Amino acid sequence: METVTIKNLKDFEGQEVKINGWVYNRRSIGKVWFLILRDGTGLLQCVVVDGECDLESFQLEQNLNQEDSVSVTGVVKKEPRAVGGFELGVKNIDVINHTSNEYPISNKEHGTDFLMSNRHLWIRSKRQNSILRIRHQIIKSIRDFFDNNDFILVDSPIFTGNAVEGTTTLFELKYFEKKAYLTQSGQLYQEAGAMAFGKSYCFGPVFRAEKSKTRRHLTEFWMVEPEMSYCDLNQNMDWMESLVTYIIDEVLKHCQSELIVLERNIDKLEAVKSPFPRITYDEAVDILKQNNIEFTYGKDFGASDETAISNQYESPVMIHSWPVDTKAFYMKRDEINNNLALGVDMIAPEGYGEIVGGGQREDNIDILIETIRHHDLPLKPFEWYLDLRKYGSVPHSGFGLGLERFVAWVCGTKHIRETIPFPRTMARLEP
Ligand code: 4AD
Ligand code: MG
Repeated sequence: METVTIKNLKDFEGQEVKINGWVYNRRSIGKVWFLILRDGTGLLQCVVVDGECDLESFQLEQNLNQEDSVSVTGVVKKEPRAVGGFELGVKNIDVINHTSNEYPISNKEHGTDFLMSNRHLWIRSKRQNSILRIRHQIIKSIRDFFDNNDFILVDSPIFTGNAVEGTTTLFELKYFEKKAYLTQSGQLYQEAGAMAFGKSYCFGPVFRAEKSKTRRHLTEFWMVEPEMSYCDLNQNMDWMESLVTYIIDEVLKHCQSELIVLERNIDKLEAVKSPFPRITYDEAVDILKQNNIEFTYGKDFGASDETAISNQYESPVMIHSWPVDTKAFYMKRDEINNNLALGVDMIAPEGYGEIVGGGQREDNIDILIETIRHHDLPLKPFEWYLDLRKYGSVPHSGFGLGLERFVAWVCGTKHIRETIPFPRTMARLEP
């Protein structure tokens, strides 16, 4: 007899199989009772009929608790009314572990803090499971996209000797006799990668000591960062757009049932189409003005500003050409207007905020030294980075897509903490 998963049951119609899983729920109607089984790939209704299975298994009904682990054998039957289209006619139930205490997460309402403290169990539930499955699909799509487009994976280190995205959110640690930081972004190393391979990317965790408790910030999050040599700001935006449309198409192709569990409005995702609007910072400021939103020119946009701007469009909007002081030291300046940096942010629709940040990099060594000084950063740890401008410097660009913000948008979950298996925030280090 084969051991199979719920997801693959359709290949075993009429056959006797074994499924390993956990008790999700059960209910009884006299001589028949139903065990709803969960195996991590889906849910399955198992029908237990007196006389059709062994007596011991039939009598288990009163003794099974939610999340008991069980191996169930039975015959796969087509049942159009059941979730997944199949049910199991049970022959035998083997209890692997009987949970003596009541499982902490029941069908009643629990507060989010309680659920977060039980995150290690909460991820078994339908909604959380669906979000993490979609996250899995998004990660796969990202990797496929870069593989299909001849990017080479160049892993950036996590211990670093310098800041990338400003000094206010650095996690500092003792590194033998020296100080080190947890990386905020793998970008600088990708610039070396792009010069070595033409196109490279890294995809890993990055760290920011975010003291703000918002629904968009984690202290540890995942970022994918491609970098392309011989690439200007506009070509960079082309890459951003193709990556995002590719991921959305793949999620729509492979995650319909998860999106349904999440009650996601799929029309909104289907409306995401190339070309995405590309507007300048100045044009974005005009949109705020037209909507009577107070805004000081020269500042970065706040969450409500981003929402007002993105509400104008169905697809994500790319805002480029920013006042120099809003952006990091490595941004190239616009050759026509020196007060503008060739940075670009992509803002998701429906109020999900900035999902991608990137731009064209400064490739002139003298200007770069000047801006490092202007940002009050020490030159020493950037010596290797300056080498990239000494030896065969070329126009190059790249960007970073924040995985959890992206998952939040695709899933339609308001809070970023549900988009990563074990979130790290200012207030949470466990589980
Ligand atoms: O805009 P950011 O800071 O850009 C960079 O780090 C560049 N060095 C990337 C590059 O060009 N290679 O961050 C990129 C993205 C943001 O758009 C956002 O989606 C996400 O990372 N992000 C966060 N996500 C969760 N929690 C936080 N604290 C985040 N900070 C940024
Ligand atoms: Mg940014």
